Amino acid sequence: MTTRQLFVTTALPYANAPFHIGHMMEYIQADIWVRFQRMQGHTVHFVGADDAHGAPIMIAAEKAGKTPQAFVAEIAAGRKQYLDGFHIAFDHWHSTDAPENHALAKDVYLALRRNGLIFTREIEQFFDPVKGMFLPDRYIKGECPRCGAKDQYGDSCEVCGAVYAPTELKNPYSTLTGATPVLKSSEHHFFQLSSQRCIDFLQAWTTTPGRLQPEVLNKIREWFAPEGSEAEGTRLADWDISRDAPYFGIQIPDAPGKYFYVWLDAPIGYLAALKAHCDKAGVDFDRLLDPDGPTEQVHFIGKDITYFHTLFWPAMLHFSGRKTPDHIFVHGFITVSGEKMSKSRGTGISPLKYLELGLDPEWLRYYLAAKLNGRVEDIDFNPDDFVARVNADLVGKYINIASRAAGFIAKRFDGRLSGDLGVEGRTLLDHLRAGRDGIVQAYEDREYGRALREVMLLADRVNEFVDRHKPWELAKHAEQSAVLHDVCSTCIEAFRLLTVYLKPVLPALAAKVEAFLQVPPLRLDDLDRDLGAHTIGRYQHLLQRVDEKRLDALLAPAEAAPIELPPPGGEAIAETIGLDDFAKLDLRIARIVSAERVEGSTKLLKLMLDVGEAQPRQVFSGIQSAYAPEDLVGRLTVMVANLATRKMKFGLSQGMVLAASHGDEKAHPGLYLLEPHEGATPGLRVR
Ligand code: MSP
Ligand code: ZN
Repeated sequence: MTTRQLFVTTALPYANAPFHIGHMMEYIQADIWVRFQRMQGHTVHFVGADDAHGAPIMIAAEKAGKTPQAFVAEIAAGRKQYLDGFHIAFDHWHSTDAPENHALAKDVYLALRRNGLIFTREIEQFFDPVKGMFLPDRYIKGECPRCGAKDQYGDSCEVCGAVYAPTELKNPYSTLTGATPVLKSSEHHFFQLSSQRCIDFLQAWTTTPGRLQPEVLNKIREWFAPEGSEAEGTRLADWDISRDAPYFGIQIPDAPGKYFYVWLDAPIGYLAALKAHCDKAGVDFDRLLDPDGPTEQVHFIGKDITYFHTLFWPAMLHFSGRKTPDHIFVHGFITVSGEKMSKSRGTGISPLKYLELGLDPEWLRYYLAAKLNGRVEDIDFNPDDFVARVNADLVGKYINIASRAAGFIAKRFDGRLSGDLGVEGRTLLDHLRAGRDGIVQAYEDREYGRALREVMLLADRVNEFVDRHKPWELAKHAEQSAVLHDVCSTCIEAFRLLTVYLKPVLPALAAKVEAFLQVPPLRLDDLDRDLGAHTIGRYQHLLQRVDEKRLDALLAPAEAAPIELPPPGGEAIAETIGLDDFAKLDLRIARIVSAERVEGSTKLLKLMLDVGEAQPRQVFSGIQSAYAPEDLVGRLTVMVANLATRKMKFGLSQGMVLAASHGDEKAHPGLYLLEPHEGATPGLRVR
């Protein structure tokens, strides 16, 4: 397989607000693809940036009493916590207001001008005489020319649906100052998209197989031949690429007081971000973007900005002598419980609140991946569905495989895998490996939902294998030890293969699995290998189930009183004590010398504990539900050594071992003995 060289971007978010769930969805989609490529050994340069320019940001900064530069810098400073928090592996995050972008935007523009595709023309536009600036359409309101509804925007009426030009509004006013706008003319710069050579180029570029999704191409066909147009051939409108001062943007060379319209310099920001990354990483930027070179340029975007990326952007690049994109991957929008997101109404899911509530970022990655496909389809975040997918599939099917097998490998076989798995085990693993081509193709096509469905079917097979062989039964018969070893080793190998498949979606979890298995970072090639008689580490808890209370807290509307989180561990922290109270407790490290069930009790285990005294102590402990006695022998724990001896039905209990449990044991079963870090020895005091 040849190594691919990829330049991958996501759309550059406007630097006027923190990220919302739609942004995170886009980054997660792209990040999964990038990680999947890297796992195959391909080289990926993955960059993003803030889209800093434009009138709305300038106006928002002014309202906040800040310079636009200071305003966007503050937004930029907040980005890292989201990107790190959701494990988005950008190589670099940049800004369209950075020097690289000023330079590149001017280069592109001057090349287009030399190429004869830039012209100027006087146009008339609304101007706010109080503010002294031309008004973008969204800052003009008035009465609908058709139905007379008040306070309608300059492009269309929300009441009757009429579409019109802002100049057709009756009694128009500026939403910035309330002043009546006046028509004023000014010279604008245009990119001649209507020229035959642009149209010829774009028709060829857009129809090159593999470049665009079929439904995107259909949309573009409509743009080329607008419905109802009688005209032969095709026609695209020229593109107004200039704005008059005051404007936060990049000055147009040789045109004082004129700035590039934000959508000219925004996509060039992709190149600027790559340039900054290359300079940092010592990569040759110009060679990377050689139009005849091997690099594949890939842009992940949402459906609302397709026009900019499939018409303006490739034309700008091509006619300035640059490399054009190889793929534009367009995704749909995410809604929350069927509702469109609205910043003003404060609905939706705040990604930051998600993290602050302690919800696991990989739940969201998994859930979104399970819903995503390669088409331009909207997806819905549905809380019940979220809980079901994570708890039933991810934890119930996948994580369970490891947790069912790891204990036996550790305790019975000293952490060592059997090496030879037996015929049935090998057949199972072959079956898992045979899924590779389909899963790889699904990731490549951004059909993540399909990829995960296939992985979960494989996990089902592994669980069937476990249920058929019942390791917990095998463990009861000494003569079945070799079979137990093979069965559990097969499970661990299967778990490793499934982890390879899931790693693009669950990178942090995969890192935990690598530590547990004591293997180097998993790559796709690892599917070809067996671990053999390899020694694995101790199993540690890998992933929690979704806690629905926290999810409810996430979804509670922002304006409502915050839902109270349940107390930690299901009970309030106990009354404050002083150090002297605490010092009364004598806690000691104890080794469990023996453990056995107690005749006549379903709760108790009888433990003999070595605390460094002449004789071991006898302690009855209510942990039978959580531990098989043989699993405890030899392990260290912590005991209360100065608790008064109690006389019980079964004998004397000379102390108590420490274990953690939830305040509501019915709803949250689970009992966990304390175990000290390595190096502790019986008799040491815990203080
Ligand atoms: N600044 C421009 C993009 C310039 S690219 C050279 C912009 N910014 S944005 O912040 O409005 O959107 C950034 C990305 O988020 C876009 O790809 C957009 O489609 C995507 N999304 C915005 N809302 C979304 C959802 N509700 N769901 C999924 N993606 C969404 O557009
Ligand atoms: Zn109307």
